[in-house]
Amino acid sequence: MQAAPARPPVIIRALQYDPVTIALHWITAVLVSLLWVIGKTIDYAPNGALRVDYRSLHMLLGVTLLGVFITHIIWRLHRGRSLPAAGNALMELAARVVHWALYLLVGTTLVLGLANVWVRGDVVFNLFTVPAFDPANKALQHLIGDWHALAADAILILAGVHAAAALFHHFILRDGVLRGMLPMV
Ligand code: HEM
Ligand code: HEM
Repeated sequence: MQAAPARPPVIIRALQYDPVTIALHWITAVLVSLLWVIGKTIDYAPNGALRVDYRSLHMLLGVTLLGVFITHIIWRLHRGRSLPAAGNALMELAARVVHWALYLLVGTTLVLGLANVWVRGDVVFNLFTVPAFDPANKALQHLIGDWHALAADAILILAGVHAAAALFHHFILRDGVLRGMLPMV
């Protein structure tokens, strides 16, 4: 009897990001959005203890995001994998540039946030005061504050473009790119 012809090997392509990457991605998206909204509304909080607490919540979430961000980078470099690109070479390049720009902007905003607290010498939850780097230097305080605000706005704009691209993939191209980043699908 003749042996059956050998079948070509079945290539199983990963359709989804790993669960750790998915969790880190959505925790980042939620924290960045919360931080931006709180940052923009701090000035509307009543002056005094409430405003200090509200600003301190911003700092606490910011430091939490710093931990998430470092974990994300380590995971991305050692364990996490990008999925094979969907679309042509130009789309792949655009996606890569936007993803790395988002990492860079989030990292920059976090560092500028920490620097902001340091140059201002902020009170944290009315528990302790961070010693100001150069208390009389108002120009430096304004400069760092402006850069922090600018970087935060830039994340929001780029993340908006990035989210619009994800929705375009999902509803127009119907290629499963968004599903790859969603849990339990
Ligand atoms: C990606 C992370 C972050 C985002 C998106 C963000 C966003 C913002 C925004 C939108 C503002 C208001 C800026 C303005 O229009 O004047 C702000 C202010 C501020 N942020 Fe952040 N921030 C982040 C991380 C941090 C971190 C890590 C810290 C420090 C631990 C921090 C400390 C501050 C402080 C002290 C202010 C000034 C508050 C005030 O004016 O009373 N931020 N942030
Ligand atoms: C502040 C908000 C956000 C940030 C900072 C962010 C950041 C990122 C980064 C850095 C990656 C690359 C992941 C990697 O390869 O390791 C990524 C991938 C992805 N993000 Fe976001 N993201 C945000 C919001 C969103 C939203 C709102 C959506 C959906 C509407 C979304 C959908 C996706 C998808 C589908 C991918 C996978 C893309 C691919 O495989 O080419 N993201 N995001």
